[in-house]
Amino acid sequence: MSSVRQVWLRLGFRESWPWIGLSDRIQGWLMPAEAHELFRLAKYHTPLQNARVVELGSWKGKSSLMLAAGLRDKTDARLFCIDPFSPATTDEEGKLVDEREPGDSRSRIQIFEQNLNDAGLRAIVEPVCGFSYDVAMEWQAPIDLLFIDAHHSYEAVIRDYTTWAAFVKPGGVVALHDANGMWPGPTRVVEEKLIHPDYGLVHRVKTLAWAIRRPA
Ligand SMILES: C[S@@+](CC[C@H](N)C(=O)[O-])C[C@H]1O[C@@H](n2cnc3c(N)ncnc32)[C@H](O)[C@@H]1O
Repeated sequence: MSSVRQVWLRLGFRESWPWIGLSDRIQGWLMPAEAHELFRLAKYHTPLQNARVVELGSWKGKSSLMLAAGLRDKTDARLFCIDPFSPATTDEEGKLVDEREPGDSRSRIQIFEQNLNDAGLRAIVEPVCGFSYDVAMEWQAPIDLLFIDAHHSYEAVIRDYTTWAAFVKPGGVVALHDANGMWPGPTRVVEEKLIHPDYGLVHRVKTLAWAIRRPA
């Protein structure tokens, strides 16, 4: 990281800048302000004991690192990262793509685990290899913070929302990435589901949108 960027991160994101610096090294699509917000949500919007955070769509661990960093000082906190972690995945049109970097023979789960390990956060994280809709069928635990960043088609995002938001505790948080109009799927789900009496005010940081689920 250049020293100019380091100073900029330090001034802009006082609590989280060292973690943003680490996440900078991981390929992904998260902006620093979004990374900071995920850190803050995990740190200040989950309980001090037994916090349960679920991330749908983890890729190589860029956002996972920020969520895990926010949980770091808590007792028995867990971050469940649900992703097929397969080098081949489907694009927005459903075509199979393989986004392995040339010359990197590691599997995606190996890359993910190495990135979390390098940050000293691996122990907090439980990777779950599978598609969100399959994992949901077995899921039972209440969730404090749900972060949705898996397949971005409307059909996929509404299915992720419908199957997973039901587990979010009253007072818990639902957050979606890429919900600023560029991606119709997450954008529409925020408009239909979060801008709703079941939730408090929708907060937006760059493309990230989140809201607190109101008690019933
Ligand atoms: C935009 S990337 C996630 C980026 C990641 N949150 C980050 O900040 O680097 C989308 C990820 O969703 C995964 N994915 C696609 N469909 C999925 C599904 N149904 N369930 C879980 N993960 C899925 C892909 O494998 C990919 O890793």
